[in-house]
Amino acid sequence: MTAFLRVRHAVHIGLNAPDFFAKQRDQFGNTFFVQVPGLNRVLFTSEPEYVSDLFQFPSDVMSSSLPSPIQPLLGERSLILVQGDAHRDERRLLKPAFQGQCLIQYNRFIEDAIETSCKQLQSDPVAQTWMQDVTLDVILRAVFGEEEVSERAEFAAACRRLIGSYTALLLLFPNARFNAWGFSPWDRFLSAREVLDEQIYRVLDRSITRKSDSVVGRLMEEGAATDLHDPKVRRDWRDRLTTLLLAGFETTANTLAWTLYHLTQHPEWQDRIAVSLGRADSREALTRHAMKQPELDSFCKEVMRLHPVVPLVIRSVLSPVEWAGRSLSPGEYAGVATLNIHTDPTLYPDPMRFDPARFLDAKPKLHEYVPFGGGEKKCLGYGFALHEIKIVIATILTRFRIALTSPVYPKPRIQGLALMPKPEIRLTLSPR
Ligand code: HEM
Repeated sequence: MTAFLRVRHAVHIGLNAPDFFAKQRDQFGNTFFVQVPGLNRVLFTSEPEYVSDLFQFPSDVMSSSLPSPIQPLLGERSLILVQGDAHRDERRLLKPAFQGQCLIQYNRFIEDAIETSCKQLQSDPVAQTWMQDVTLDVILRAVFGEEEVSERAEFAAACRRLIGSYTALLLLFPNARFNAWGFSPWDRFLSAREVLDEQIYRVLDRSITRKSDSVVGRLMEEGAATDLHDPKVRRDWRDRLTTLLLAGFETTANTLAWTLYHLTQHPEWQDRIAVSLGRADSREALTRHAMKQPELDSFCKEVMRLHPVVPLVIRSVLSPVEWAGRSLSPGEYAGVATLNIHTDPTLYPDPMRFDPARFLDAKPKLHEYVPFGGGEKKCLGYGFALHEIKIVIATILTRFRIALTSPVYPKPRIQGLALMPKPEIRLTLSPR
């Protein structure tokens, strides 16, 4: 029965995760067990009180979920996957590069990437691929530095190929990960993995001798590269950088694609945002305005409420614990069903209606709005992502009015690490 349930749940999650979780809630209420493939059963909740508890458990009670379906993609030393002290140490190492002054310095990379991309547009762009190009360019500049990645196009192609090769089948069914003389989906994934690894090692070896404002440059300055000839240290770096690249580009690209889609559906919001931003007389001024503009902020919040591209947060239970009215033992899992919280009518009246105005006067409460997860494992790049989303949208809206080339009703589908709107959203841009 359990095996049957596991397959049924896997297929339903693979086809339409938001629909699956909404149906579970309709049937069982806000807290329910799900048989997630590759894991034992997971107790999911969308009760803010339990979500708050989950995010506050110390790391010896709940930690990164293992085994993880994304381990083959990111590597076992990825910050997303390591537990306990290893997680604390890795997070401590990376965190300074994603806050304060460092974040502000990356704005230049974002401005350059979106400006160049707007100038080079030749025909009606597809929102998903356009935003992937931009966010890949941004994350490569931020992680490796501008001068280091002269072969950015090659790098971007390798990231895309890797994500594309890690299909929902490989993600959700560990049994599908087998070799077949180079012809199985798993073989194709491993070969894509190897190509990206080689590129990462090549740039890493060059970076060690150069100073730069990039994440790698900062970590090198702090002496994080103890001995890059040691295979274990090299492996750690590979997992660290793959994690930043992959976690950093797809999630943001998909959120941006949803944002562009909703802007096409609400031209009045395009004008509201553009008119106020249009007063900026330089790109630095535009960025400063974009960071503070309430309409843009509310619009982005509403997009991430209805489209949290990482729809679930899961933790492994490491010590016996009472949580969400149940006793959980080591080996079991606890999770947050993000979309169910974000569409709970007691928290968000008329929850399926897209209405940015709901955030104009009211800030969302901490555990009622969790697109970036929470606690010690809250998204490391959330500040970076918010800067990027606001600068990209501000740059587009001050240059163009955007519309759909033909009507489309995108739905969220699993691709790589995140939910992506499908089918493609093709845009018509007219200069303002
Ligand atoms: C809109 C864009 C993004 C969304 C919606 C998003 C969402 C998330 C979520 C839900 C988590 C899990 C949090 C938890 O377990 O509590 C996470 C973790 C993480 N994210 Fe993001 N993310 C985004 C962008 C980024 C960017 C730009 C980067 C890097 C530059 C990044 C790097 C990471 C890392 C390294 C973790 C693991 C943190 C840890 O385990 O300590 N993310 N993200």
